[in-house]
Amino acid sequence: MTSTATPSRYTLLESDPHAQRASFAEAVAQGLGTDPKSLPCRFLYDAQGSDLFEEICRLPEYYLTRAEREILERRADEIAACAGPCEELVELGSGSASKTRLLIEAFLRGGRRLRYVPIDISRSALAESAKSLLGDYPRLEIHAIAGEYERGLRHLRADADAPRMIMWLGSNIGNFDRADAARFLTHVRDAMREGDRLLVGIDLRKDRRSLERAYDDASGVTARFNLNLLARINRELGGRFELDAFRHEAIWRAREGRVELSLVSRRDQEIAIRALDLVVKLRKGERIHTEDSFKYSLKEIAEVAREAGLCVVTRWFDAAERFSLNLLARADA
Ligand code: TRP
Repeated sequence: MTSTATPSRYTLLESDPHAQRASFAEAVAQGLGTDPKSLPCRFLYDAQGSDLFEEICRLPEYYLTRAEREILERRADEIAACAGPCEELVELGSGSASKTRLLIEAFLRGGRRLRYVPIDISRSALAESAKSLLGDYPRLEIHAIAGEYERGLRHLRADADAPRMIMWLGSNIGNFDRADAARFLTHVRDAMREGDRLLVGIDLRKDRRSLERAYDDASGVTARFNLNLLARINRELGGRFELDAFRHEAIWRAREGRVELSLVSRRDQEIAIRALDLVVKLRKGERIHTEDSFKYSLKEIAEVAREAGLCVVTRWFDAAERFSLNLLARADA
């Protein structure tokens, strides 16, 4: 943080870097030591990965960010009005928070001050976004939390009684399978009080071509983002992956309603990972599954909300109806 930001308006709850490295090592050993192989997607977002993801968000093929921004640009005041009085805005997986600005502005128009609580696994993204937000909004206070969603839930449970809205944007819900999404939303619901609202950005089911291009763009940025996971193993765990021995793959499975993302081995190979004392064997054509991105129908959105004890208060779409923003409340409130 530079001296231009007022330190008293900013606090950061740090994550323990040793614990983070240990959990990465453990996840890699587990995911590559079994068959079929996989790596958890949250590790895509180190500093390099977060920068590449920002680049993805600007790609012509990646419509999600633009569609969600379009809704916020048109409807931020309406969303703020529907959410009611709000002194705290909590965001799960805040990233660069560039879309969140639109809501911060709307809430600041309606109230005197606002506390923003961004929770993100990337410390670099938290630091950069906080710096620019504090510079732009003198009535904003930021309490940043570095870490996984679990820490965010702890904050939600511990926090006293300011009226608040919780945001989970970018269709990050899609990176959970449907049962886990319901389970996670149940935990959020349990931490919500009667007047609290939850705003969830959810990408909608659509044609194969749009979806596969969104996750496999012509300029290869998404491929680099995915391959960065192997580069990260090389950097942090002494891995010996050759990135050009893998290709990025995105396949839409309509029945399951998800885009499956993997790295496919271009040849038979053996890769040593020094810090894990492990040699990973891959056959030609074998996949390392890195992420699923689930898409929803309106019925599926209502279902996942209901399973979590939540209900949809209102929802908004972009003009082309590719993406939805859903305002949820406790079903029993
Ligand atoms: N949450 C984003 C999504 O599902 C993440 C993402 C976009 C992603 N492109 C990707 C993850 C490519 C892995 C590979 O849309």
